[in-house]
Amino acid sequence: MKALVLAGGSGTRLRPITHTSAKQLVPVANKPVLFYGLEAIAAAGIREVGMIVGDTHEEIEGAVGDGSAFGLEVTYLRQDAPLGLAHAVLIAREYLGDDDFVMYLGDNFIVGGIEPLVRRFHDERPAAQIMLTRVADPRQFGVAELDTSGQVVGLEEKPAAPKSDFALVGVYMFTPAVHEGVAALKPSWRGELEITDAIQWLIDEGHRVSSTIISGYWKDTGNVTDMLEVNRLLLEDLDQRLDGAVDDASEIIGRVVVEDGADIARSRIVGPVIIGRGAVVRDSYVGPFTSVAEDCQVVDSEIEYSILLRRASIHGVRRIEASLIGRDVEVTPAPNTPRAHRLVLGDHSKVQISS
Ligand code: DAU
Repeated sequence: MKALVLAGGSGTRLRPITHTSAKQLVPVANKPVLFYGLEAIAAAGIREVGMIVGDTHEEIEGAVGDGSAFGLEVTYLRQDAPLGLAHAVLIAREYLGDDDFVMYLGDNFIVGGIEPLVRRFHDERPAAQIMLTRVADPRQFGVAELDTSGQVVGLEEKPAAPKSDFALVGVYMFTPAVHEGVAALKPSWRGELEITDAIQWLIDEGHRVSSTIISGYWKDTGNVTDMLEVNRLLLEDLDQRLDGAVDDASEIIGRVVVEDGADIARSRIVGPVIIGRGAVVRDSYVGPFTSVAEDCQVVDSEIEYSILLRRASIHGVRRIEASLIGRDVEVTPAPNTPRAHRLVLGDHSKVQISS
């Protein structure tokens, strides 16, 4: 079995973070979302991975390399434009050959991995195996209609009037039967070749499509709330590890990871918290469910339930919470007189000011 990992596309929903970086590389608990997917694929015993890349290919290739760090052999497949999930299957046709494959959307996160699902697929070998999860707003997803016995009878992509609240999760398993359906597709109303339509084709042609309902699923929906929630979930499982420097005047409470090369002084850290390599925390409070990436600075500040991306710095600010702060961002207090906010915000930024 091979894997086809989709790491192309443009990532409009997590703007402004994705103006400058691939959405699949946005970190949760200091690790890119894509890496969790690759680890799940490796843990399921799959070695060969075709990785669909688009405009952000350099960044993805720089982060993933040849895949050996994950125990995988990664082959990059260039997609000139994000023409749809089924288009990705189309351009991977030669790479996939006659193998079964799991298609994994690089911005999806599945708690607990995919090993049991791959095992079920091997045992039953339907033409397609999909995963469904209940969501609050199915209009943002592919949606499945089930009959009374739980059998999938129809699928619709981003319907205006959803027939159920079961959304398609971005992990699909296929036999080579799907290629005929993909080859027969026409672009949808949004101009994409939809994998949802290819699965519908399999159903219409009388092939077996099985489904599993899961919980513990996350997908970026444009609100940072979801990302903070997944960050929280991952940090819940943290084990304490203090490899970096922590001075005697600091207090570490609960499950805290301080990576090698990080430097904590005169601060109070209440876990679960992860502090990345080269990060500096001085005279500050870092509260539960916070991920501080590599080379960040938190000085004379308070932060809680937040994600700081690489090299962000916060000096003299209290108090930041429920925030996602991008790479190389600087947050400092404005002078007291006149009382004013001084902002340099990129396009699509979102700021909430407490005065
Ligand atoms: O996440 C689950 C949803 O994913 C499903 O419920 C939908 O049925 C399915 O169509 C898909 O919907 P999205 O519109 O949210 O997919 P998105 O455009 O965000 O792309 C998913 C991933 O695939 C993302 O990592 C970018 C990558 N991609 C996307 C397209 C359209 C590609 O690599 N190439 C593409 O052409």
